[in-house]
Amino acid sequence: MLDLSPKIHDEARQGEAYAPFAKDENPYRKHFYIESYGCAMNFADSEIVASILNDKGFGATRNVEEADLIFINTCSIREKAEQTVRKRLTEFKKLKRARRGMLVGVLGCMAERLKAKFLEEEKLVDLVVGPDAYRTLPNLIEEAEGGQKAVNVLLSRDETYADIAPVRLNSNGISAFVSIMRGCNNMCSFCVVPFTRGRERSRDAESIVAECAGLYNEGYKEVTLLGQNVDSYYHINEEKDETVTFASLLEKVALISPDLRVRFSTSHPKDITDDVLHAMAKYENICKYIHLPVQSGNSRILQLMNRTYTREWYMAKVDRIREILPGCGISSDIITGFCTETEEDHQETMSIMEYSRYDMSYMFFYSERPGTLAARRYQDDVPEAVKKQRLVQIVALQGKLSRESNERDLGKIFQVLIEGESKKSESDWMGRSSQNKVIVFPKAGNAFKPGDYATVEVVDFTQATLIGRNVSQP
Ligand code: SAH
Ligand code: SF4
Ligand code: F3S
Repeated sequence: MLDLSPKIHDEARQGEAYAPFAKDENPYRKHFYIESYGCAMNFADSEIVASILNDKGFGATRNVEEADLIFINTCSIREKAEQTVRKRLTEFKKLKRARRGMLVGVLGCMAERLKAKFLEEEKLVDLVVGPDAYRTLPNLIEEAEGGQKAVNVLLSRDETYADIAPVRLNSNGISAFVSIMRGCNNMCSFCVVPFTRGRERSRDAESIVAECAGLYNEGYKEVTLLGQNVDSYYHINEEKDETVTFASLLEKVALISPDLRVRFSTSHPKDITDDVLHAMAKYENICKYIHLPVQSGNSRILQLMNRTYTREWYMAKVDRIREILPGCGISSDIITGFCTETEEDHQETMSIMEYSRYDMSYMFFYSERPGTLAARRYQDDVPEAVKKQRLVQIVALQGKLSRESNERDLGKIFQVLIEGESKKSESDWMGRSSQNKVIVFPKAGNAFKPGDYATVEVVDFTQATLIGRNVSQP
């Protein structure tokens, strides 16, 4: 039996399987199925792709068995992410053999990284389309239908898809991702993203605010502004002679309504300014949560990683956040076993985690990516067993820090945006605090529905979840 149901793919972060679905009035038109891997940006891109295909008359389907076109939106961040995609492709290829005329297309970062080589490696793939070329999908599909192999992996300096309204057919109707920029100029030495996503460019502020306002009018209660490095957002509106920075963009979005929560991801420690922190302090609805990836706690390794900050600089940034935004949640990304990392360097990563008191972290062992600065310059010399053993240690430490962070919340009261029923119990609601912590609390005796705000006191906790009771005033 082939397992072709959409799955959760959290290879990079924040990901969930995504298969847009529309009730179809015309069962005879062609249907596409799309599955996404990797970071939130890829999931947001799939919504753009769905929009482009819908406009051309294709219908979305959640059922891969009835698809005429299967798309897989791929991630290259670590080797394992690529392996997962290859495995899934093998399943799709089996399906293709059984169904004449069905096309398989590879989108996203792996398409960009491997380009036409993909078609040599994976003979049953018909289309290879990079992240900046989605507007050409309808033409490429035509080419592929005519029996040609279709490839477009051109990167762009200005594509932001600003005018395309993403199709959000599979969302919970409460939170949505909004892309505010694309690409990355940072060149962290371990990272493939600058090669797969191209140069950084910011989307115009007006289209961002309009999209967020539109979401609010449709009943959404939370938007997450997305970019690889949101703090370097920068857009000049020549007509209005206005320069919009990330801090001023945050304000504009926060002003849409005090009822609309605003989140953002990801912040690069070198770029998050006091202006951003002050904007967060000024508006209650800008969530008090910053994802601030440290990667390593050792200054020498940070330099090899080309992160452009030192251990001390990062610690000062954490102090500044705690000073301007007391009670702000902070999370991190950490890599173990980067080139030349010693046991002492690793211990410094552990101690910076303790210092920063992360509420949560995404942790990985280093995976060399072809073509990156690190692959060209440094030897991947930490044995895999050591990388993994260090990873086990930081995962255990993060577990302890998360429990401690949750313990500090005991007795505190939070505004919780209810996202739905708790997965574990029908009699509980599940939502998040401004600090991005998951809180569950009993439904009993209250008339809430998903999308409502509840005032909840924390009475208990596990490592991953706060347990509360409703104390909202009727
Ligand atoms: N732009 C974001 C990160 C995107 S990638 C930022 O700068 O924070 C998400 C995370 O994957 C990175 O923060 C890093 O911790 C991890 N990562 C990236 N390349 C990696 C590699 N080659 N091996 C292991 N982890 C990697
Ligand atoms: Fe990669 Fe660094 Fe850019 Fe993040 S900031 S996407 S880690 S190059
Ligand atoms: Fe992966 Fe590309 Fe995102 S490599 S993490 S999908 S930008």
